Amino acid sequence: MKKSVNLNHKIILPLLCAVMSLSFCVSLTWRILGMLFNKPVPMENYTIAYPHNYTYVLNEPDKCRGSAPFLVLMIPVAPHDRPARDAIRETWGQENCVPGVAILRIFVLGLSWGHQASKIQAELGRESREHRDIIQKDFLDSYRNLTIKTMVMLDWLATYCPRASYTMKIDTDMFLNVDNLVNKLLDPSALHLKQDYITGPVIGYGIIRRDQESKWYMPFEVFGGVFYPPYISGIGYVFSVDLVPKILRMSKFIRPVFLEDVYIGMCLQELGVKLTYAADSRYFPRFSVSYNPCSFSQLISTTLAHPHQLPEVWHDFQRTKFAC
Ligand SMILES: *[C@@H]1O[C@H](CO)[C@@H](O)[C@H](O)[C@H]1NC(C)=O
Ligand SMILES: *[C@@H]1O[C@H](CO)[C@@H](O)[C@H](O)[C@H]1NC(C)=O
Repeated sequence: MKKSVNLNHKIILPLLCAVMSLSFCVSLTWRILGMLFNKPVPMENYTIAYPHNYTYVLNEPDKCRGSAPFLVLMIPVAPHDRPARDAIRETWGQENCVPGVAILRIFVLGLSWGHQASKIQAELGRESREHRDIIQKDFLDSYRNLTIKTMVMLDWLATYCPRASYTMKIDTDMFLNVDNLVNKLLDPSALHLKQDYITGPVIGYGIIRRDQESKWYMPFEVFGGVFYPPYISGIGYVFSVDLVPKILRMSKFIRPVFLEDVYIGMCLQELGVKLTYAADSRYFPRFSVSYNPCSFSQLISTTLAHPHQLPEVWHDFQRTKFAC
């Protein structure tokens, strides 16, 4: 017995040292290679201004007035993507999706650019008057500006809808099982609202991409190390609205990165808020699940392999889910 304990010490300690020095060497090598071969990146490219620096082009200040919705769906979308907005309006974005539960739908946009910009903007004005579900601020709508979009979304909630209970930030190429989200995860009949609560597809050890060709390239000067702090994939995360003012306050002290989900993770880590893993691992698959009414009846949200099929999938799901 004693012997085996000694043996463990003899093996584990040196092994631990070896692993630690190896990981130290790897990150040092990365740093040196980065300094030798990476072009320095101008800091401004990674500095994203606070949401107050932008002003509303379209807004819905009365959408929540005097009411405390149970759930607000916040959907970032590109200005030109009317087909995606219409598909969501007639599927999981219907505000009366769950009888007796107040749900709101808000699309979050920046400004469109290119030669079609003024035409798109005029159409957006009409669409906004028709549906009353669009907010837009005057930053350029681009992948690199998604963190601005998320901060605008939080700022809107804090300003115009602070009494909402929960919110979900969800991408347009997703399928959302609203009934499971409301009844299985959040539970409107619960005595107490969850506090400091955020869940979704948690990424515990997200590797930082250092190849400059990558869409997710992150220079060492902006974020060192090998892994990001734990965060929840931006495809769809659910959180309690009490977190909104806390994240906004903390964000003033944390230099933004353009990966909005990583940035929210950084703010939460600094706040000491732990990410919640969903009780059922099937709720938030990180990769797309091919459509099948029975597997979709178990989950809350998933990326659709073919987003244009959302209406078709949705209507089939409404018909067949009860057969599972
Ligand atoms: C954004 O607004 C803040 C406070 O109003 C100001 O200090 C800052 O310089 C602004 N940043 C930009 C890029 O305009
Ligand atoms: C982000 O938006 C700001 C404000 O409109 C703009 O100046 C900047 O070029 C945009 N950045 C990218 C990468 O699109």
